[in-house]
Amino acid sequence: MPMDEFKAANLAMWDETVDIHYRSDFYGVERFRAGWSSLELVEPDEMGSVEGKTLLHLQCHFGMDTLSWARKGATVTGLDYSPAAIEAARRLSVESGVPGRFLESELYDAPNVLDEKFDIVYTGIGALCWLPDIRGWAKVVSHFLKPGGFLYILEGHPMLWALDDDTPEDPMHVAWPYFETDQPQNPAGWDNDEDYAQTGEKMKNTRTYNWGHGLGEIVTALIEERLRIEFLHEHKTCAWQAFPWMVKGDDDMWHVPNHPERLPLMWSTRAVKDA
Ligand SMILES: C[S@@+](CC[C@H](N)C(=O)[O-])C[C@H]1O[C@@H](n2cnc3c(N)ncnc32)[C@H](O)[C@@H]1O
Repeated sequence: MPMDEFKAANLAMWDETVDIHYRSDFYGVERFRAGWSSLELVEPDEMGSVEGKTLLHLQCHFGMDTLSWARKGATVTGLDYSPAAIEAARRLSVESGVPGRFLESELYDAPNVLDEKFDIVYTGIGALCWLPDIRGWAKVVSHFLKPGGFLYILEGHPMLWALDDDTPEDPMHVAWPYFETDQPQNPAGWDNDEDYAQTGEKMKNTRTYNWGHGLGEIVTALIEERLRIEFLHEHKTCAWQAFPWMVKGDDDMWHVPNHPERLPLMWSTRAVKDA
C-alpha cells in the first residue's frame, strides 16, 4: 500500500476522534477550562521554565497540552494535520481564554507552511508512532529551533510498541518490530473500533498504521541534526494503561507489577541546538 494511503487512513481516524476526545473524561475539557493542566507531572519539571518563550507543539491534537504550556507563560503554536483537531484547538483557546495559534499541516510539510523559529519545540505522548521516518522528523525539529533553543519530548517507550497486547499468558511477548521498518509495524494495520479514550462510542474509521523507531535511532537522528542531548530518561511509570497487565500506583501512574526494573515504559529527552 502506498505511504499516502497509510497516512490517509490514520488521518480519517484522527479526524473522527477529535469530537469524541473533546467530550471525553479521558481528556477532561471541563477541568481544563477550570484551570487544570493536562501536562504529565514530569513534563514541567524536565522542561524547566517556559515563561516568555516561544513554543511550537508538533502533532498537537486539539491543543490541550499546547494551551497548558501557554498557561505556564509560553507563547504557543500548535501544529497538526487533522483539520478537525485544529478547529477544536482554536475553539478550546477561545472557550478557555488561553491564547494560542493553531495551524494545519502534515508534519514533514511543516517547514513549507510555517516560516518561523522557536525557543522550544515540544512533542507529547503518542506522536512518533504515527511517523514513518524518524530522521525526517528530526530534520523538522531542528529546522524550527532557534540557535540555543531546545527540543523537549516525553513519549511512550518504543519497547512498549513492540509488545503484543493479545497474549495475556505472555504479557512480555515481543511481536512487532522495535526498529524502524519501511512498512508499518503491522503492515495489515490495526483494526479497532474502540478509541483509547474508552468512551464506549464505536469508531467508523477503524484501520490504522504505526511505525516503530528504536530509542537509539531516535536519539542518533537528533544528534545527526546537531542537537546536543542534555538527558535521556527512561521511565518506569506510564501515563496511561498501555496494557491490561499494568497496575496503577499511589502516584496515579501505571506500573509493571512486581518488577518495575524489568521494562522502561516512557522516555524523555531535552536536546539543545547549540548556537
Ligand atoms: C495522540 S495525539 C498526540 C497528542 C497529545 N499527546 C495528546 O494526547 O493530545 C497524535 C496526533 O498526531 C497527529 N498526527 C499524526 N500523524 C501526523 C502527521 N503525519 N502530521 C501531522 N500530525 C500528525 C494526529 O492528528 C493526532 O492529533
